[in-house]
Amino acid sequence: MSDILNIVFGSQTGTAEELAYDIQKLFREKGSESQIFELDDISMDKLEQINKLLIVTSTTGDGEIPDNGINFWQSLLAATNLNLSNLNYGVLALGDSSHYDFCNAGKIIDEKLQTLGANRVIERQECDYDTDGSIEWSLNFLSLI
Ligand SMILES: Cc1cc2nc3c(=O)[nH]c(=O)nc-3n(C[C@H](O)[C@H](O)[C@H](O)COP(=O)(O)O)c2cc1C
Repeated sequence: MSDILNIVFGSQTGTAEELAYDIQKLFREKGSESQIFELDDISMDKLEQINKLLIVTSTTGDGEIPDNGINFWQSLLAATNLNLSNLNYGVLALGDSSHYDFCNAGKIIDEKLQTLGANRVIERQECDYDTDGSIEWSLNFLSLI
């Protein structure tokens, strides 16, 4: 079981990726080290070994998961026997409310993780168009994790 904080991003055009690195820098300034992955770097075996997870993901297409998170999402959907009881997580969702499925990728990942027994430590933050509120939310997350 790994105690280090994992920041995992799903990003289509780079905003969530950049934000992931900004959050890592902020956490480092607060004395907390973390490691960054793309969603698709996280196998289900690996997910079972993580206990601190911050997911930052945008939504693309019509409410879809970004390309670098599709394999992760398919694996999560197919999972039947996962033990996520040690997983403490929060989801930072980027989107644009002019789209019908606002922040859908973050929403469905968040709901699926909870259904699978993971522990949501903070309510999902949904950022409309820009990343407003994400830094404050991240600091709240850090204080809770
Ligand atoms: C082609 C396209 C489709 C999008 N579809 C959605 C959507 O369905 N729902 C939503 O909330 N936001 C949608 N967005 C907004 C993005 O999620 C938002 O701009 C986000 O900050 C982009 O982050 P990224 O650069 O990390 O992908 C879309 C943006 C683009 C360019």
